[in-house]
Amino acid sequence: MTVAVHVTAGPLGDAERGEAVFGGALVVFRDVAPLRDFVALADGLIRAALGADPVRSPADPAAVADLQRRARHHPELEAAFSAVLGAAGAAVERCCWDWLYLRVQPPEDPAARGTLGIHRDTWSSNVYAQTNWWTPIYPISRDRTVAFHPAYWSRPVANTSAAWDLDRVREQPPVPEPTEPVDPAGELRVVIEPGDLLCFSGAHLHASVANTSAVTRFSVEVRTVNRDDVAAGRGAPNVDGAAPHTAWRWFRGVIDGAALGA
Ligand SMILES: [Fe+2]
Repeated sequence: MTVAVHVTAGPLGDAERGEAVFGGALVVFRDVAPLRDFVALADGLIRAALGADPVRSPADPAAVADLQRRARHHPELEAAFSAVLGAAGAAVERCCWDWLYLRVQPPEDPAARGTLGIHRDTWSSNVYAQTNWWTPIYPISRDRTVAFHPAYWSRPVANTSAAWDLDRVREQPPVPEPTEPVDPAGELRVVIEPGDLLCFSGAHLHASVANTSAVTRFSVEVRTVNRDDVAAGRGAPNVDGAAPHTAWRWFRGVIDGAALGA
């Protein structure tokens, strides 16, 4: 299938965005004003933790892990990202999220830290109303970014989701994996600027591009679920996910912190 990339300079309401994203579109919000504040805050935290030139200096893995832990539920970062979601058109009072994941992907790292293999988030979450939001903190390029495999939006891939256990996340790969080759021919790499926001369904097949550039990629991602979408049964189609449980408990209200439940 042909996957549309919608680029918008203004907000999109939940209904309009949901229709696009649950239909497989990738949506890019250009130059989201509150993202400048978010990026400045994240930049300050990153430099304080990793030094003045974080993209070019090799980062100490322990310092990175500590920074990621603090970013996860950092109150100011959360407040700034809540404003970002609002500016993109999301009704934040109906919105649940998981946590802010600061991804740090060093160049040519033999340990492939920060590099996720090909997956659908829904293979693990099982939440088909899940929307992913992704934004770079420093400039990115084709050789350090996220890649999509749009042909697989409606095409199943054999995978390990049926055996992926929510309660054993530390004892298994971070995400379920394909068990058959994925044709790389249709790979779509997205390059956006800091201040831009990429939005896509958690059901999209995607991966980190192996970082073959000279500098470290820093990006932030968060996953959201709108309570109304869950109630109405709206979401992306499930073409191949078989996770035995649904990770409702990963999500809590952006404003009230209340569990999504279901
Ligand atoms: Fe993902």
